[in-house]
Amino acid sequence: MIDTPLEQQPERQLDHRYDALAKVTGRAKYAAEFPVKNVAYAYIVQATIPAGTVAAIDDAAATRASGVHSILTPFNAPKLAELGNVNVLQDTTVYYSGQPIAVVVARSLPEARSAAALLHITYKEQPAKLDFEGLLKEARPPKRGGTSRRGDPDASLAKATVTIEQTYSTPVQNHNPMEPHATIAAWDGDKLNVYDATQGITSVQQGLARAFSIPQTNVHVECPYTGGGFGCKGYVWSHTILAAMAAKVAQRPVKLVLDRDQMFGPVGSRPNTRQHIKLAASSDGKLLLQQHDSTCYTSFISDWVESAANPTTLLYDSESLSVSHLVVPLNLGMGTWMRAPGEATNSVALEIAFDELAEKLNIDPIQLRLANYAEKDPRNGKPWSSKHLREAYAQAAERFGWSKRNTQPGQLREGNKLIGHGMATANYGAGRSPSSAVVRILPNGRLFVGIGTQDLGTGTYTILAQAAALAFSIDPSLVDVKLGDTNLPRSGGSGGSTTAASVCPAVYEAASQAKLKLAQLAVADTQSPLHGATAEDLEAKDGKLFLKSAPDKSETITALIARNGGTPVEATATSELAKDRDSFTSHSWGAVFAEVAVDADTHMVHVRRVVATYDIGTLLNDKTGINQLTGGIVWGISMALHEQALIDKKYGRTVNENFAEYHVPVNADVGEIDVTCLNIPDYRFNPLGARGIGEIGITGTAAAIANAIYNATGKRVRDLPITLDKLM
Ligand code: MOS
Repeated sequence: MIDTPLEQQPERQLDHRYDALAKVTGRAKYAAEFPVKNVAYAYIVQATIPAGTVAAIDDAAATRASGVHSILTPFNAPKLAELGNVNVLQDTTVYYSGQPIAVVVARSLPEARSAAALLHITYKEQPAKLDFEGLLKEARPPKRGGTSRRGDPDASLAKATVTIEQTYSTPVQNHNPMEPHATIAAWDGDKLNVYDATQGITSVQQGLARAFSIPQTNVHVECPYTGGGFGCKGYVWSHTILAAMAAKVAQRPVKLVLDRDQMFGPVGSRPNTRQHIKLAASSDGKLLLQQHDSTCYTSFISDWVESAANPTTLLYDSESLSVSHLVVPLNLGMGTWMRAPGEATNSVALEIAFDELAEKLNIDPIQLRLANYAEKDPRNGKPWSSKHLREAYAQAAERFGWSKRNTQPGQLREGNKLIGHGMATANYGAGRSPSSAVVRILPNGRLFVGIGTQDLGTGTYTILAQAAALAFSIDPSLVDVKLGDTNLPRSGGSGGSTTAASVCPAVYEAASQAKLKLAQLAVADTQSPLHGATAEDLEAKDGKLFLKSAPDKSETITALIARNGGTPVEATATSELAKDRDSFTSHSWGAVFAEVAVDADTHMVHVRRVVATYDIGTLLNDKTGINQLTGGIVWGISMALHEQALIDKKYGRTVNENFAEYHVPVNADVGEIDVTCLNIPDYRFNPLGARGIGEIGITGTAAAIANAIYNATGKRVRDLPITLDKLM
């Protein structure tokens, strides 16, 4: 596309999404959709027991089946070098039901699947650990981190006039991006080409290089589009390595796509949490003690922790604090990052607890939060790079009409509907990683941006085009972006809401340097009207270079490049992290308000309205940004009312491993959502003042809804999701 003349470019309007046309016309290709010659299809066979070993696999019948190329088992699979915590047929141990224990490679997917059914697998079973509640007494500290303490908790507690102490719980959840995980792997000698659905092309490249003991530069990963990730595509899972292994054994390219039910277990879960919270305050609402102890399941594969208690260390001020985590190892697939890992589950418990404390103190829930507003990072006394949570509370409360709410639970009725209002604080960390980008000014005046990042479907293409366009003051539709390819300058992974904050400054910097090079060309060119000026005194706008002090002195970029050999002018730049970054904390904030209507007869809950205001620094793009936050809120509704993986305690298998029974909200479940951003730039954090927004939307939302349900019904539900049986 980059060499296509301007007039032949498809029309793009960048008040819309950069990739909208490609997506709605089906031109956008996802990992599994790339045409690869001679490709074979791999199907993963999963363990049907939760614990034990694979004793034998009789593959005689499967091998003879139609179209079968190869069958990989723990008994014949090639030995790999260094691996992460994945199960790729290196031994016979079964850690959980659903673990990959064989791979069938065949001419077509139906043939692979049907041959898989012919494998005769025998196991040596062992007793499985699956009963979280029953095994709580075996809970132990995680191998890394998990505790934090400030002040003297006992002394603070002794001074308190009001105390609440409760236990809150959240279920296991599974990410289900619309695009399931998928890999196509093709070997060319000791070089490996891969299309992978991922949140981090570089980590896939590194993971495969380590597994197969080849240099990282021998692995080429492409992923121009990712159909949603939410954390599950942030890890190099078994299927990616198995696809490459199968391609090696079958000596042909292999495509491996997970079925929807294979998304429940082998590619990570959000662990359940059981959170014990004690809050103690003086009568004016000042917090004396916050104690938060969270226990979650962990797997026998890795010691992953859902760090649900951690955000309590920085959200509110209190005289004393005590935070801890424990894990209960179970025979389940490993936990992993799932949208706002820690913050989403934390905010359920802590923000309901704050509602309970406010009621006991008889003060407004916003007042309670303001009384304990953290002016500085309570962990270390460092200033925030920018914090405007007060304004967020005020703006959202105003838009919601909070002052008009009825503070007495169960008093507001409309016919047989009980109406309630609730609120909570939202928060998420702000991080960024060093990123490199190339920007090329083309002879036709268009800009080309190349960067080894990825677009999860959230709008990375769009904001990168904007960042380059900003440096040249041109319409973003004149920018072509290429990403999702490890041959491009290296960028970080797309996790922890870091992408926008990492990649936009890199592209802006590369564009600015390319602009300077162009200016140097102009001032050195005797035929240019700008000859003899100082390059730094020039600026660009609408396809022209001009002298800042005398804008009439100008020339078009296309003419300048044409006179100078017609070759593109390009610059590569790396955006470094702020040098003084250790002297402050960057964090994002928000205030979420919810209105629910609960049917007095059926107990069905309808979320009528969610109103939220976020302090996320600069809002880079109204459409993609507000969409992201809205999507996060919808997921918060899911967390509050619908979503849970139901795991049976005998076989350890997720019972509802499909979209029919793993409930998520549909349009009818989602009322009006009103999202605003304060749009106050955080320039200490990065040059664009923008913090990431991928995850904050889910935080606080579920608690605001739970608090609204209490306000409507007088029933305090502390165990999510709040299904109607819990309101009877
Ligand atoms: Mo996010 S859970 O780091 O993709």
